[in-house]
Amino acid sequence: MSDKRIALPHPFFHLSGEAFKADPYPTYARLREEAPVYCRVSRDGAARMWFLTRYQDVAAALRDHERFVKDVRSTMTAAERATAPAEPPLYRLLTRHMLNADGETHARLRALVNKAFSARQVESLEPRLRTIANALLDRIVARGAGRMEYIHDFALPFSIAVIAELLGIPSRDHHRFRAWSHILVAPSSDVGRNLRKTERLQRVMTDFVNYLQELCAQRRQSPQPDLITMLLEAEEAGDRLSTDELFSMILLLTIVGHETSVYLLANQLLTLLTHPETWAVVRADRCLLAPAIEEAIRYDGPVERATMRFAAEDITLHGHTIRRGDAVSLVLASAHRDADAFAQPELYDIHRTGARHLGFGMGVHYCLGAPLARLEARVALETLCEHLPGIALATDDEPLRWQTNPIVRGPKHLPLRWNKG
Ligand code: HEM
Repeated sequence: MSDKRIALPHPFFHLSGEAFKADPYPTYARLREEAPVYCRVSRDGAARMWFLTRYQDVAAALRDHERFVKDVRSTMTAAERATAPAEPPLYRLLTRHMLNADGETHARLRALVNKAFSARQVESLEPRLRTIANALLDRIVARGAGRMEYIHDFALPFSIAVIAELLGIPSRDHHRFRAWSHILVAPSSDVGRNLRKTERLQRVMTDFVNYLQELCAQRRQSPQPDLITMLLEAEEAGDRLSTDELFSMILLLTIVGHETSVYLLANQLLTLLTHPETWAVVRADRCLLAPAIEEAIRYDGPVERATMRFAAEDITLHGHTIRRGDAVSLVLASAHRDADAFAQPELYDIHRTGARHLGFGMGVHYCLGAPLARLEARVALETLCEHLPGIALATDDEPLRWQTNPIVRGPKHLPLRWNKG
């Protein structure tokens, strides 16, 4: 393996924690200006992680799937692979999904589910999404409190119900996914920090795998018109999907899929409610919902950083050499505030033209769920306008607090109120 020592000329940037997450944008502005290729070294000096923060660099790296790979094993020589420690079987069961795969493996996995997420297929789901959203809002209004916590009461149950129905997960089990997802998407560095967390992760992984085994056994016995049944048929065809890949695919689609949607719904509403003039314009002309949603994804999207890449070879960028095997984090939220790509990037402007946002990624790993996510976002806003036109933020008593997960961006709670009369 290449020499891991490196001279680090940069100042230290704090890139985690609640205070940082409350407003990461000033730090990202400094990074773009002072250290656009910024390196962090692990405490033992053995591992390096690079942060790319300028739009052009982030977009180029997303497109360059040959040199910025997703599976760390793709960076290794045959000899290194042979001596690399084996992954625990439980871990393998949940991580062999397309977002961790490169080349042919990635293309094969994506092709298996591509059709189910096509724009046309997704369009046909609209009436069902409306029914779910209306039922949730009817229940909230019927409580008569004139208040709700948007994430817990609406965004979460709505997003889970949509993806779970598509897959074929019974509604009585939806709530279990929340608990599992929160722990499974926690960054592995956090989990490694103390044993108690690692044990908890093991327990959650075991529960999740047991649950999926049971569900798959039921579907094998009585197939249904759902994605899990379709994937099981592919698994039975043998050469197309292994058991590791099947479980990992379900994990990716359910958990990663709903986690991002929840914060798309929350962030777009927060953005609109804090820009009351735009909110009024959008409510009056529903044709503006689509550009309002796209701009909300750029302005304060739910995916702050793309998932980790690894350098497949030594890569030199702005005078720095990212060594083969180094981890690379592509900071989408920073790219979206880059004035070289977007005029007045700190403004929420739904009539904006110019560079495309990277909120659904770019290149071969471009978000498979993008059409579904956009539909969820639109249906959520439309049904909310219909049920509760006078909705407002209820954050006077307690300021918003933000999720500390480095990848996901969103508030922990979004309290809302409306006039009951
Ligand atoms: C509707 C639910 C969703 C589903 C089922 C879904 C599914 C997926 C899948 C399967 C991938 C991996 C594609 C591949 O590796 O080829 C992916 C990537 C991605 N998704 Fe989604 N997604 C959903 C919602 C969202 C939302 C709401 C956002 C943000 C606005 C988002 C942003 C992304 C990004 C940025 C990537 C690329 C990650 C990377 O390259 O590191 N997704 N999504």
